[in-house]
Amino acid sequence: MLGIETSCDETAMAVLDAGKNGFNVLSNVVSSQVKMHAKFGGVVPNLAAREHVKNISHVFNLALKEAGIKNFQSEIDLIAVTRGPGLGPALLVGLMFAKTLAWKYGEKIIGINHLEGHIYSNWLNGGNIKFPALNLIVSGGHTELVLMKNYGKYEIVGETLDDAVGEAFDKVARLLDLGYPGGPVVSKMAESGDPAKYALPRPMIKSKDFNFSYSGLKTAVLYLLKDLNAKKIKFRKEDICASFQNAAIDVLLQKTQAAGRKYSIKALCLSGGVSANKMLREKLSHIAVKNGWQYSQPEMRYTTDNAAMIAVAGYFESLKKTKRQLSWQSVEMDANLGF
Ligand code: KG4
Ligand code: ZN
Repeated sequence: MLGIETSCDETAMAVLDAGKNGFNVLSNVVSSQVKMHAKFGGVVPNLAAREHVKNISHVFNLALKEAGIKNFQSEIDLIAVTRGPGLGPALLVGLMFAKTLAWKYGEKIIGINHLEGHIYSNWLNGGNIKFPALNLIVSGGHTELVLMKNYGKYEIVGETLDDAVGEAFDKVARLLDLGYPGGPVVSKMAESGDPAKYALPRPMIKSKDFNFSYSGLKTAVLYLLKDLNAKKIKFRKEDICASFQNAAIDVLLQKTQAAGRKYSIKALCLSGGVSANKMLREKLSHIAVKNGWQYSQPEMRYTTDNAAMIAVAGYFESLKKTKRQLSWQSVEMDANLGF
């Protein structure tokens, strides 16, 4: 199978062998545009699309070469491509490339929900995840608790009402002049900071539902910095990062545990770009152990956007589809695609 992902600022392709012994990633190429968007403090959709167009054929050639694919038509059985949610202009580049391949070679093709892709990044660990499984998907665009009762059977039980948690990391990094993306640098600095130095809010931690809100936490950091600067009080960025990270992760942990208990889950799965966060990985795995739940988190290289996860999702999704549903005419982009 060939996986293709262009929903945001990574042009990614992967070749996946889905056989009796599970999944074998033969190649996983990710070309990141992060440096270009860093100048603007975030991803600019049309620039992302332009870069995808520039890079996509190179990424394609590399992915096939690394996987040792010599004859596309006879060796590839299925193309899985992200069709949403994401940035419209960026998604269209991957989709158009995939459709053209499917048309030219008469290949089967399937459109994949990017979030479903993140969920299936956990199947690259060997699978065997028990149901019902609760997925905490945390990225730059999403903060979702998705109950998975079986393959393809999803229910959103909680989500953010405003900013995503990764977005909060990115905004705090911007306030502290730490560049973009914020998650890796904020979490690195937090390691040498005091998480109890500043009392920051834990929005909605006491609400009875499983929804999140992160815009208030970001604003609290903004006011804290204004106050410290106005009073000319010296501060360490490390302490701000640690206090922010603690508050942001606390809410994730409490809500996830409460939802897991309510729905009597058997497994807890973490995914999305923020799942690269060390503290979140450690604390969430403890919660799973404490509650007797199976726990899974993606390998680091499958935490941020990649096409291997899209290919795995494509494998499971394609099992339910007819040949006609797997034709190039039937795949459409949907920037706001939901579950
Ligand atoms: O899944 P992803 O690559 O793209 C989206 O679909 O959004 O996630 C990117 C997000 C960014 O907001 C980035 O700051 C965050 O993941 N991130 C982290 C860490 N590494 C990446 N957030 C917290 N801690 C990290 N170590
Ligand atoms: Zn993502």
